[in-house]
Amino acid sequence: MKTDTPQPIHLADYAPVPYLIDSVDLDFRLDPQDTVVRSRLTLRPNPARSDRGAALVLDGERITLQSLALDGTVLQPGQYRVEAQSLTIMEVPQRAFTLEMVTRCNPSANTELSGLYVSGGVFCTQCEAEGFRRITYFHDRPDVMARYTVRIEAEREQVPVLLSNGNPREDGVIGGTTRHYAVWDDPFPKPSYLFALVAGDLGSVHDTFTTASGRDVALGIYVLKGKEDRCAWAMDSLKASMRWDEQRFGREYDLDVFNIVAVPDFNMGAMENKGLNVFNDKYILANPETATDADYVNIEAIIAHEYFHNWTGNRITCRDWFQLCLKEGLTVFRDQEFTSDLRSRAVKRIADVKTLRARQFPEDNGPLAHPPRPAAYIEINNFYTPTVYEKGAEICRMMLTLIGEQAFRKAMDLYFERHDGEAATVEQFVQCMAEASGRNLAQFFTWYTQAGTPTLTAEGQYDAATRQYTLTLEQKVKPTPGQAEKQPLHIPLGIGLVGPDGADMPLDLDGVGTLNTPLIEMTEQRQSFRFNNVAKRPVLSLNRGFSAPVMLEANLPTADELFLMGHDSDSFNRWEAGQRLGRNLVLAAYRGTATAADVSAYAAALKKIIDDAATDDAFKALMLLLPSESEIAAAIGADVDTDKVHAARDGLRRAIARQLAKELDDIWVRTAEPGPYRPDPASTARRALRQTALALMVMGNPAHGIKAALAEFDAAHNMSAEIGALGALVQIDCPEREAALDQFHARHAHEHLLVDKWLLLNAQAQGPDAAARITRLTQHPDFKWTTPNKVYALLSGFVGANPAGFNAEDGSGFRVIADAILKIDPVNPQVASRLATGFRSCKLLNSSRKSAAQAELERILAEPSLSRDVFEIVSKIAAS
Ligand code: PHE
Ligand code: ZN
Repeated sequence: MKTDTPQPIHLADYAPVPYLIDSVDLDFRLDPQDTVVRSRLTLRPNPARSDRGAALVLDGERITLQSLALDGTVLQPGQYRVEAQSLTIMEVPQRAFTLEMVTRCNPSANTELSGLYVSGGVFCTQCEAEGFRRITYFHDRPDVMARYTVRIEAEREQVPVLLSNGNPREDGVIGGTTRHYAVWDDPFPKPSYLFALVAGDLGSVHDTFTTASGRDVALGIYVLKGKEDRCAWAMDSLKASMRWDEQRFGREYDLDVFNIVAVPDFNMGAMENKGLNVFNDKYILANPETATDADYVNIEAIIAHEYFHNWTGNRITCRDWFQLCLKEGLTVFRDQEFTSDLRSRAVKRIADVKTLRARQFPEDNGPLAHPPRPAAYIEINNFYTPTVYEKGAEICRMMLTLIGEQAFRKAMDLYFERHDGEAATVEQFVQCMAEASGRNLAQFFTWYTQAGTPTLTAEGQYDAATRQYTLTLEQKVKPTPGQAEKQPLHIPLGIGLVGPDGADMPLDLDGVGTLNTPLIEMTEQRQSFRFNNVAKRPVLSLNRGFSAPVMLEANLPTADELFLMGHDSDSFNRWEAGQRLGRNLVLAAYRGTATAADVSAYAAALKKIIDDAATDDAFKALMLLLPSESEIAAAIGADVDTDKVHAARDGLRRAIARQLAKELDDIWVRTAEPGPYRPDPASTARRALRQTALALMVMGNPAHGIKAALAEFDAAHNMSAEIGALGALVQIDCPEREAALDQFHARHAHEHLLVDKWLLLNAQAQGPDAAARITRLTQHPDFKWTTPNKVYALLSGFVGANPAGFNAEDGSGFRVIADAILKIDPVNPQVASRLATGFRSCKLLNSSRKSAAQAELERILAEPSLSRDVFEIVSKIAAS
């Protein structure tokens, strides 16, 4: 156990800093082992503080202070104090003053990838959340916004490209030396977490964008040399994002340049640094030979996400890190809308809900549950969570649903106008929503402060004599860590009463009249809604479009679910009905109560959907996917045997595949690639259906399916087809898959992003020796403990995509992951801690599994030099 237990930081303790920093001039002498940073700050007492005379305490970490001067006078050792995490100057003037300092750091030794580090030979920074303090001493917190100028100096030959935030001001060679320099100016005040510097021997592609008001913006994408021909999709996506934000939100870009850099070593997906976004290269590089359809879609969405941060995050930032969902939830919501406008809205909604259920619901339902706006944290890096991002986005969407498109846009305009240039709070954002709409959102605010996913039970009663339909709803949230008592939430619920012909009947709500918008609002714990003039017994379609992130228990008879699956005018709820039916069938198989008739009825309903020429291929593909094993486990709730879950789900997939054998073959023939690869929505949808069909074919008739998969694998001329074929093969333990995996590696070993895909496919491989395979691969020369993408592919891939392997009853899966956490923690605590979250659902397991997992958690906690990151996650899970 750690000797000094890390202490939490509380939202309630927020206080403004005693001294503001107005401007920062930085001068970097770049050297891989010994970079020198000169910093000149102008400071002044903060008018928001009534006290005077406080010491100046700046954050700093892993840097060496070389010299320090205040208003031009060098400070003597007794006038300041350097500690591991801070620099304190005991006395500073109570008026504007300047501080000059020189610090040194070692970018090559920076394996945490926070602060200034080297990736692929390129200097690169990552400052969110608290990395700037590893570059120089500063108030490294988002409510201190300053103007930055940055001068970078380096060797001309080795480091020809010198980039930072804002606009380029000047560059040149340093006479008589082999060195050169560049100066960048960012006119917009920003918090330190948005600072960025990138320098190295980079290739680039360039384009321009003309804003709505006619200003030209120079666009650049920088990549490691030789990868320039894989940037076209990212560039198109960037231009589409810029246009969309103008059209949908009236937001124009504000600098003369917008640059993006792709690096191979990055902890997260990407980072929205002002005017200089830095990306994990897997979310930039794409061509048909190396990127799958999913990659194309992700690149488009992440480029958009980072670009949209320019207004939601950068121009208006967060007052403190508790407000993280102010920028992240809102920006995820914006990127979801972007994708919905460009592609299929229905398919995007389903995809987002699948992500929510796969990542956020399990978090909300376990020891790591926290509100979208948490009240305390030990390590802020642990709060870049599905709850902050995805549930945060759902909350924005619910406000849109409640107040309507027009008021929502008005509220956003008000928010941009009122808070531009400020560090804001969630309260201020919601206040804009309330003011613009005239709605009271006080109760609604609880969504931000209360953890846990509500369960909503619905009971409908139809009275043919009075032609009334009464809907009784009840909401409940289970206690979560630190929140035993739960308040009722304000829940917007899309609703339809579907008549026997499949058409929606009018909604004549008692006491209100005919509803203009098919929406009811629940505010109490238990509430009834009576609808008048309901001509026929309706089938209830509730939470249409997934209007609220709740778990709905409607308890409809199977016949009604089958009816909705075929007829609901809300396509989300057609899919949802299919999911509920599928889930119930897997649960029945798990419990040994499944009947062949139920399975047949389900398969027959799927057949109708497949046969319907008017239905989108992507939607068909989604209908053919059963809820995930982790969703099933959560539905079982306790004492789960994950092998049985896997067997039950696969058993149902086999049965469906057998009944739909002919349809699957037809799909296979119809969806063959007609020409060169194109990433457009229709082609993407066709391939999604093709791959889903292939995966089922392998289940239903292995000999036949394997043959088709191998033929596809050999003939594939795009990565989507290749991965689709391999993905189908790794589902079952067969000799063909080993040969194909080897062949994939032989084909693509030179391409690091494809090695990651190979690791992920291996991680997914089903079979009794899954953990042994993982151990073996961690020793493979292509695996690197220090590269986050490798760890995420192999180890997070195993935890997330191979629940039967990770949760193996003999504890082998837990052991391999615990070993990895202990190995990675000293190298990169953020990556180790993300891996540790994989244990969050282990309390659902049966006792042998649970105790095997607990033993591993305790083994981790026994490590004396554990990071705060891993300590916070593992101690919370172990204590639950
Ligand atoms: N702010 C980034 C995003 O959401 C994510 C990120 C967080 C990246 C922390 C790096 C470090 O787009
Ligand atoms: Zn973001």
